[in-house]
Amino acid sequence: MAPPLPSSTRTIPDIANVPRHIAVIMDGNGRWAKQRFMPRVMGHQRGVESLREVVKACRDMGVGYLTVFAFSSENWRRPADEVSFLMSLFMKMLEREVAKLHKNNIRLKIIGDRSRFDPKLVQTMDAAEHLTASNGGLTLTIAANYGGRWDMMNAVQVMLKARPELAQGFAEEDLSPYLSMSDAPEPDLFIRTGGEQRISNFMLWQLAYTELHFTDVLWPEFGRKELDIAIASYQKRERRFGRTSDQLKGDVGA
Ligand code: IPE
Ligand code: IPE
Ligand code: MG
Repeated sequence: MAPPLPSSTRTIPDIANVPRHIAVIMDGNGRWAKQRFMPRVMGHQRGVESLREVVKACRDMGVGYLTVFAFSSENWRRPADEVSFLMSLFMKMLEREVAKLHKNNIRLKIIGDRSRFDPKLVQTMDAAEHLTASNGGLTLTIAANYGGRWDMMNAVQVMLKARPELAQGFAEEDLSPYLSMSDAPEPDLFIRTGGEQRISNFMLWQLAYTELHFTDVLWPEFGRKELDIAIASYQKRERRFGRTSDQLKGDVGA
């Protein structure tokens, strides 16, 4: 197992001008469709275009990691026909886009609990990850049947199975390698489209010191321009990681 990456709660991370990792809750598809008197699922379909544009923009800017929330562990509560549309859209997207991602040197990863998915979908997910595993460009991670609480619970269970002696007590560094995103730096920037200002069980552990950006723009209308706005807002923030502003300016005694 690779050594754990620096943790924002254990060491102060280096800050890059362009975020190294952007995490996105792609929200507002249903409302976008409703505004146009279309069925909600048309919004999901349009949302794939936005994702394509954002992936390209991130690649062009040299963002290392883009992680997007496609389906939460709570989205099973939606009407059955919407859930099954989303599943088949996911399948189609993988089948249609993976070769292009591969050609563009993009590494695709999928996080979340796969046990509830159709075995054919799981197979396609595995194949897509396998094909793109050694690509060194952008890492695109899709969170599907993912929940931050699931991730933490799952990590504890897998860790204790592998290292039963840790039942006596363990540290952050013991647990972190078992979390879904252990091979990526923590997100620098979180974006949620669609106007809601909540985390909805996304990356609870990893967002500890992430800068949050909320926009009313609905996901199907989000593109390069809106991404630039989010990054510009990020670049104005003072990331203190618990310290004072004076400390950051080197004026420790003040
Ligand atoms: C986000 O859009 C996509 C998924 C949750 C799959 P929504 O479907 O939540 O759209 P709204 O929030 O209802 O507009
Ligand atoms: C969060 O959006 C999940 C995804 C975008 C996949 P939701 O639309 O499901 O979130 P809530 O229910 O409004 O919090
Ligand atoms: Mg929503």
